[in-house]
Amino acid sequence: MENVSVDIHKVFGFVSRMTIDALQNLVKEKNTALENKTGKGSDFLGWVRLPSSISEKDLKEIKATADQLAGKVDVLVVIGIGGSYLGTRAVHEALSHSFLHLKSNRKFPIILYAGQNICEDYLNEMIEILNAVRYGIIVISKSGTTTEPAIAFRILKDHLENKVGKKEAKDLIIAITDVKKGALRNMATSEQYKTYTIPDDVGGRFSVLTPVGLLPLAAGGVNITALVEGARSMQKITGPDVPFEQNPASLYAATRYALYRSGKKIEILANYENKLHFIAEWWKQLFGESEGKEGKGIFPASVDLTTDLHSMGQYIQEGERILIETVLSVKKTMSKLVVPTEAESLDGLNFLAGKRLDEVNKMAELGTVLAHVDGGVPNIRITLPELNEFYLGQLLYFFQRACGISGYLLDVNPFDQPGVEAYKKSMFALLEKPGFEEETKKIKQRL
Ligand code: PA5
Repeated sequence: MENVSVDIHKVFGFVSRMTIDALQNLVKEKNTALENKTGKGSDFLGWVRLPSSISEKDLKEIKATADQLAGKVDVLVVIGIGGSYLGTRAVHEALSHSFLHLKSNRKFPIILYAGQNICEDYLNEMIEILNAVRYGIIVISKSGTTTEPAIAFRILKDHLENKVGKKEAKDLIIAITDVKKGALRNMATSEQYKTYTIPDDVGGRFSVLTPVGLLPLAAGGVNITALVEGARSMQKITGPDVPFEQNPASLYAATRYALYRSGKKIEILANYENKLHFIAEWWKQLFGESEGKEGKGIFPASVDLTTDLHSMGQYIQEGERILIETVLSVKKTMSKLVVPTEAESLDGLNFLAGKRLDEVNKMAELGTVLAHVDGGVPNIRITLPELNEFYLGQLLYFFQRACGISGYLLDVNPFDQPGVEAYKKSMFALLEKPGFEEETKKIKQRL
């Protein structure tokens, strides 16, 4: 059976095979620290064995709840920010019809996302749409106190209660939060919502394979059993005892670390299947929040190709040579669309006649990789044999494992995010939140 795999051949002009191989023992040591919970942030390593610990019973229960909710609504609003929504959006959009909103024969509710911003127009316009449809809410916050989703939930809860009545609204709301602490837990208890818990030892950006991702994904029609099976199989092949060459997470972590040490500071995740856009958003949070601390870390960026070759392509080809490009490549695509022949070839495209669009896309991918490598951008390729639940499960776990190893290679704690607090402090001071009086005084002097 094929697996998600990593090809590092196109980095050898920038760092040698020997340099990467020399990191083997160090990488194994870091991976062992993840497995044995002996490294920094070891209280947050519940995700390491999560795939193999999810039982069939758990999955069945989650599916039953998801089916029940999905059966009652046309639209499901997932409220959450960061790790509390990106995993769901990444997997759901990767697997969904590109024009799902316009399809008439939908079997599952449309998923809308709220609480990932504080934009008034966005929520107001969503409410306009929600006025006319049957909808339910899955509200997700591990801390239960994050401002953005809390505001969105207050507004949408009020809207839903006014629309269908408090009693019916209660059955259309599910909360996913900490087992006992936080405002969302208190609210769920007092309002008697159905709840799921996020394990204490799993941080937000590592939580996609907990109910945080599994419940909304199941409601949106994703086969969560196959997703977890994929993750489980990747758990097996990324463990510390798997030889370096055969361990995709070790190989990826070692390669990007070697490139980082050689002066490459930005990693661009590039896709040629635009459905993977949100996989990159999820990946950016995963690596950015895990590595970017103590003045260290590769800055994670992303592009949708070939679209962004016409906006970002110039910089990638000729800008500052601090880039790594990691291509997410999908081997086998499902739909078939062939370029037609035209008698006169007025557009000059007859040389493509009879070729599948995917073949053209693949040549664009190959051509771009070669051009970028020639331009001084080392290239890592991550191949998904197909775009389905199983391989997405593999991909998610692969990135998580590689991220844990990468954080340890940098000698940071990959499982905290102290820097995220800074903006909250000044925002609360400006909004004159009780308890922030001192900060408010100080900040007003700076305005
Ligand atoms: O990775 C993390 O833990 C964070 O980035 C969270 O995902 C994000 O801040 C949302 O937090 P919460 O789920 O507590 O609302």
